[in-house]
Amino acid sequence: MRLRPWFYNTLYRFNAAPWDKEVRPQLVELVEAGRLTPTELPRVLDLGCGTGAESVYLAGRGFGPVVGVDFSAVGLRRARARAEAAGVTDRCTFVQADVTAGPIPGLADSYDLICEFGMLDDTQGEERLAVARAIHRLSRPGGKVLLWAFQADKEQLKGGAKMAPMIAPGEERELFGEAFELEYLPTRPRTLMLLMTRR
Ligand SMILES: C[S@@+](CC[C@H](N)C(=O)[O-])C[C@H]1O[C@@H](n2cnc3c(N)ncnc32)[C@H](O)[C@@H]1O
Repeated sequence: MRLRPWFYNTLYRFNAAPWDKEVRPQLVELVEAGRLTPTELPRVLDLGCGTGAESVYLAGRGFGPVVGVDFSAVGLRRARARAEAAGVTDRCTFVQADVTAGPIPGLADSYDLICEFGMLDDTQGEERLAVARAIHRLSRPGGKVLLWAFQADKEQLKGGAKMAPMIAPGEERELFGEAFELEYLPTRPRTLMLLMTRR
């Protein structure tokens, strides 16, 4: 099943998106620990940025330019309002686009840091490959990619859990292992938190 913009628009419109609560704590931890710094990684791309919590957080911590991309018009409306309220519109902008549809007009050639929280696992098949291609295309040698996804072996799940979008164990190595060094960060069961460095 392909998740369409109307699905996300509806969740955002009714404040019903379960992920849309706070800045992803793993991102905050890495920034607080000095592992991701605006000096080394100023130019940020937030793929599938939703309502912009991570984009605005990073802009507020001195990263920039920060560009958030999403295909949900409602999510982006919230993201722009959030950036406005935080006073970071000078270095945090948002672009409406489908990441699976090829090169995105208005983006730079590459970014120092790419955040991808929860979009790769929402795609399947050729669209998942297209997201991975976008990450390859838009990262630079030495640049970082922070990626979070649901991950499990569907054969081992029961009932409705089998329906949830997720990536298979090891799939991340097939998608990224050749071009990136993969660092597995601690995360809760059935999820994957990766900090990748482009070779
Ligand atoms: C699970 S949400 C995560 C949102 C945000 N990254 C966060 O962590 O709160 C996935 C986001 O990816 C966006 N998305 C999914 N498929 C997309 C695509 N093909 N192109 C652009 N955005 C997409 C959705 O609109 C949604 O905002």
